[in-house]
Amino acid sequence: MTILVTGGTGYIGSHTATALLQQGYDVVVMDNLCNSKAEAINRIEKITGKRPAFYQTDMMDMDGMRSIFRDYKIDAVIHFAGLKAVGESVQQPMRYYYNNITGSLQLFQVMAEFQVKTIVFSSSATVYGMNNPIPYVEGMPTSATNPYGYTKLMIEQMLMDIHHADPAWNVMLLRYFNPIGAHESGLLGEDPNGIPNNLMPYIMQVAISKLPCLNIYGNDYDTTDGTGVRDYIHVMDLADGHLKALDYIQKHPGLEVFNLGTGHGTSVLEIVKAFEKASGKKIPYQIAPRRAGDIAAFYADNTRAVNLLHWQPKYSISDMCRDNWNFISKNPNGL
Ligand code: NAD
Ligand code: WQD
Repeated sequence: MTILVTGGTGYIGSHTATALLQQGYDVVVMDNLCNSKAEAINRIEKITGKRPAFYQTDMMDMDGMRSIFRDYKIDAVIHFAGLKAVGESVQQPMRYYYNNITGSLQLFQVMAEFQVKTIVFSSSATVYGMNNPIPYVEGMPTSATNPYGYTKLMIEQMLMDIHHADPAWNVMLLRYFNPIGAHESGLLGEDPNGIPNNLMPYIMQVAISKLPCLNIYGNDYDTTDGTGVRDYIHVMDLADGHLKALDYIQKHPGLEVFNLGTGHGTSVLEIVKAFEKASGKKIPYQIAPRRAGDIAAFYADNTRAVNLLHWQPKYSISDMCRDNWNFISKNPNGL
């Protein structure tokens, strides 16, 4: 089976491409490299012994995408490509709507032209908005609080409508919680541009002294130690979730929504402590004001994914910190 992985040189895409190749799938990667490097392809080859085909193609380029579908008989698409920085999406909404929504629509149009109707989409826990009780369950109402979140909601809606109009479309909407960790080889990991927005990439920069100090956004939340609580999940567990989703959809055609999280919450201070233990490095921090748009705590109810996909997250928080440290200490300047 040949899988087109859009966004496949990015963080989650590169780890998933690795897992797919190791599982015996053929992989074609498409990415415009706006937030990743082609070096990821070399790293994937080093780990798996197989080099995925790579197209530096933008979702805005429909003819470019058509040539991929002409060159390869694609059986399914795993669609990671998109812009993902919440704060940036508030500053640059048009760029986010254009890239994520128009880009995805064009991809779906090209898929339809080539009769490729199986897609796994990277959605996000952000679609649960601000007002749901925790843990989040797939059937809860969805909403968004920023343009990035609206793009995820809209793309979910587009795929639901496409499936409704033509039930031959098989759609997996996977809602990721907070992916961290890296490939255990230290060859692949998260390599964001500029100053990181997310907690773990920021801690990694502090650990290698590229940034002086972590700002902890609030210690007065209604949580065990007052800092924000999230459901951190190892990127290789997420990658495995994609393999399980592909298996499932072949046996059970249709449209499904799954949370991919561990079901456990961890606070910012607990992450800092776990990272210090895994790395042997001190992470200096200061308490800063709450970050706009943050909520105190959220984590997944992953019962559906565990029961239906037969997926079980395996990695602990200390494994995640160990693998992040392994990656950043081997790649202080990224890939
Ligand atoms: P990433 O930025 O590392 O990967 C996304 C890739 O898409 C990048 O390599 C980028 O170059 C590429 N891309 C962006 N726009 C493109 C375009 N127009 N054409 C072709 N390629 C394009 O991000 P990631 O963390 O690997 O996230 C992958 C997906 O998962 C994204 O859709 C993201 O929204 C979603 N997601 C991520 C998280 C997270 O915290 N990392 C959580 C939930 C959902
Ligand atoms: C985690 C915790 C912060 C940075 C985001 C997106 C979400 C999804 C995952 C894509 C919070 C605290 C953070 C820092 C800190 N992405 N923090 N200092 O906000 O849960 O989720 O990424 O879909 O949509 O919103 O992740 O890693 O930014 O924050 O104290 O420098 O760490 O307040 O409690 P978040 P995060």
